[in-house]
Amino acid sequence: LFARDVDFMRSAVSLETLPPPDLPEVCFAGRSNVGKSSLINALTNRKGLARASNTPGRTRELNYFNVDGRLFLVDLPGFGYAKASKSDIARWQILTKAYLRGRAGLRRVFLLIDSRHGIKPSDIEVMEMLDEAAVTYQLVLTKTDKLKKGQLEKVYKATQKRIKKRPAAYPNVMKTSSEKKDGLDSLRAEIADLALP
Ligand code: GTP
Ligand code: MG
Repeated sequence: LFARDVDFMRSAVSLETLPPPDLPEVCFAGRSNVGKSSLINALTNRKGLARASNTPGRTRELNYFNVDGRLFLVDLPGFGYAKASKSDIARWQILTKAYLRGRAGLRRVFLLIDSRHGIKPSDIEVMEMLDEAAVTYQLVLTKTDKLKKGQLEKVYKATQKRIKKRPAAYPNVMKTSSEKKDGLDSLRAEIADLALP
C-alpha cells in the first residue's frame, strides 16, 4: 500500500473543511512530540511529507494524506503540550475530540505513546473518550531506539497489561522507531488491512 502513491491532500482547521468521508480512514493521535509526523514520513518513505520538528506543537491542523486512493491517513495535532495557550488547548479539544468521536469512515485511531514515558494521564483521557464512543484504537510505542532492549520489553508488557480491559482497545500494542525504521512493516500491514482492496 505505502509503496504506491501517497499524496498530501489538505489541511483542515475545522470539521467543515474535512474532505467528504469517501475512503476508509485512520489517524495518528498522541501527545505533542511523540513522533506522529515522523512516523508518517517513515511509513511512506518520504522525508518531508508530514512536517516533523523538535518544537512541540508543530502540527496545528488535521493533515490529510491520500494513500493510493484506498485510504486516508490523518496526522493530528498533538495534545498535552503544557506550553500551549489556553485558547489553543481549547481549540484542540473541540476540533480533535469532535473528529475522533464522530468522524464517519474512521476505522482505527493509532494512539502513539513515547516508549520512554509510557501511558500518561492525557492518554488515558483519550482512551476513555474512545472507549465511550466505541472507536477502535491501537497503541503504538514510538522512539524505541531510545531504549535498551530490556527496558523496552518492560514498557511493552506494562502497556499491554494496561489496555487489556479497555473495551475499544485493539489487543496488540506495536513498537516502532522511525529513526531506525523498526516495526514499520507490521504497522503498514495493520493499516493496509483497513484500506480498500
Ligand atoms: P506534534 O506535531 O508537535 O504533535 O509532534 P509529532 O508527534 O508530530 O512529533 P514529530 O514527528 O514532529 O517528532 C518530534 C521529535 O521527535 C522530532 O525531533 C523527531 O526527530 C523526533 N523523533 C520522532 N520519531 C523518532 C524516533 O523514532 N526516534 C528518535 N530518536 N526520535 C524521533
Ligand atoms: Mg506533528
